[in-house]
Amino acid sequence: MIDSSTKYDHLFSHLLPNAVGDVKIFSKEDDYLIEQDYEAITDNELGVWMRLYEKLVEPLNRYASKEYLDGIDALGLSAYEWPNFSQLSPRIRDASGWEVTPVAGFLDEWLFFELNAERKFPVTDIVRQSERLEEKYAGRAIANTDEYTPEPDIFHDIRGHAPFLMNRAFGDFLADVGKLGHQILVDERNLGPELVAHNLKRLQNFAWWSYEFGIMKKQPESENWRTDANDMDHELYGSGIISGYDEVMNVVACSRGESDSSALLPFDMEEVVMTRFDYSDIQDRYYIIDSMESLYADFYDNQRLFFFEG
Ligand SMILES: [Fe+2]
Repeated sequence: MIDSSTKYDHLFSHLLPNAVGDVKIFSKEDDYLIEQDYEAITDNELGVWMRLYEKLVEPLNRYASKEYLDGIDALGLSAYEWPNFSQLSPRIRDASGWEVTPVAGFLDEWLFFELNAERKFPVTDIVRQSERLEEKYAGRAIANTDEYTPEPDIFHDIRGHAPFLMNRAFGDFLADVGKLGHQILVDERNLGPELVAHNLKRLQNFAWWSYEFGIMKKQPESENWRTDANDMDHELYGSGIISGYDEVMNVVACSRGESDSSALLPFDMEEVVMTRFDYSDIQDRYYIIDSMESLYADFYDNQRLFFFEG
């Protein structure tokens, strides 16, 4: 597990207690693939989806990147309709060669990177604040609020990630992140388990500070996708920000200089891969990329950072 400690952990900055805690993790030996039972969705589950979705319509229209807004239009997501994976997958496949793959929950890194390398994005069909999530974790204490659950849920996966999969360039990049993860795990260079775990953490840090919680300098062309002008100097492309109202508003406050709880920092690959994070709270920093193209270039030009040899 990449969350286990290694003798190289002291090299990282920003070491924080990990809050994933009691979340169930599925590996290859488990029945991790599921069929979506669309008819079983309850009014309460749809109600949670609607509530979370509607609250974000205005702020995302104003602050999300054009890749996201374009993807939302093309994907045809709705506040009033529970996502139907068998309808979404063909649209995503046509756009970028990706599809969504329904899974039972949190996957270990082998499964996650292998699926990503094959352009399969694992998604769960459980939403936070629902009976099914409560049943799954009966007797275990995990956070489960409108803003946060450590269990990846359908709202984060579909509202946060799926629109980006409609973008060919992003899809190619994400598949290459998956292939790199798989390459680290296969360990053809014979670095050994400690260095494999360490290098995976580097990749996990990169993913966290980029496509999960990254922000971007304001791009003039993104304004063509909005009905309300972006009144800050940045825009959002991290899915973890985009799927959480409080996180969005925290970035807005930071960008306006109205927050002293989180910092905005320039995206520096060496710093990003060496910086750990906390799943369970509003982020205390956001790294700013110049553009999606600059992120892709940083990733491809710095592959050596993910093969640290000790
Ligand atoms: Fe995510």
